[in-house]
Amino acid sequence: MAVGAGDPRPGRILVTAPEITARVAELGQAIRHDYAGREPLLVGVLKGALVFTADLMRAVGRPVEIDFIGLGSYGPGTRSAGVVRLTADLGVSIEGKDVIVVEDIIDTGHTWDFLRRNLLTRHPASLALCALLDKLPRRQVDVRVDYAGFVIPDEFVVGYGLDHGGRHRTLPHIAVLDGVA
Ligand code: IMP
Ligand code: MG
Repeated sequence: MAVGAGDPRPGRILVTAPEITARVAELGQAIRHDYAGREPLLVGVLKGALVFTADLMRAVGRPVEIDFIGLGSYGPGTRSAGVVRLTADLGVSIEGKDVIVVEDIIDTGHTWDFLRRNLLTRHPASLALCALLDKLPRRQVDVRVDYAGFVIPDEFVVGYGLDHGGRHRTLPHIAVLDGVA
């Protein structure tokens, strides 16, 4: 897709690449500690958490199992349509496993609420949530984030896997998107 002159573009950097690296290392260490003696299954939520999952799984520094699940709620804009869909299911059974869902960002909380209910019907041994970003001011559903990277204000952000209309995922940092309604 061509980039137009009036398109929203990444502006102020909210979280730098070194800050992300340091925090991901801490989250990995916390998971390694909390899951000592177990081999958790990290479930990355596509596509936004792809980059975070890849870094986090290595930061844990111990064997983990990996899978991905695809969810969609956003259309081309920046506000959730409020309807969450499963766009790609897991490849493995999670029954009896210690599952850690890896999300890019918790905004209203509806996506996690949908996913949590869905996964619980499959009888994991345990279910935890690790989110790189927690946009706390926008919360509509009561969500407990077990491992949170950064709490951020009500701004639409891109980079490090997060997109707007499919773009800006490859930025190494988290930036506020300028020029969005
Ligand atoms: P929720 O259902 O409102 O919690 O929204 C969660 C999903 O919306 C995330 O997994 C993201 O895919 C997307 N999202 C929410 N806020 C942002 C943002 O600031 N930038 C990019 N994607 C976002
Ligand atoms: Mg997401």
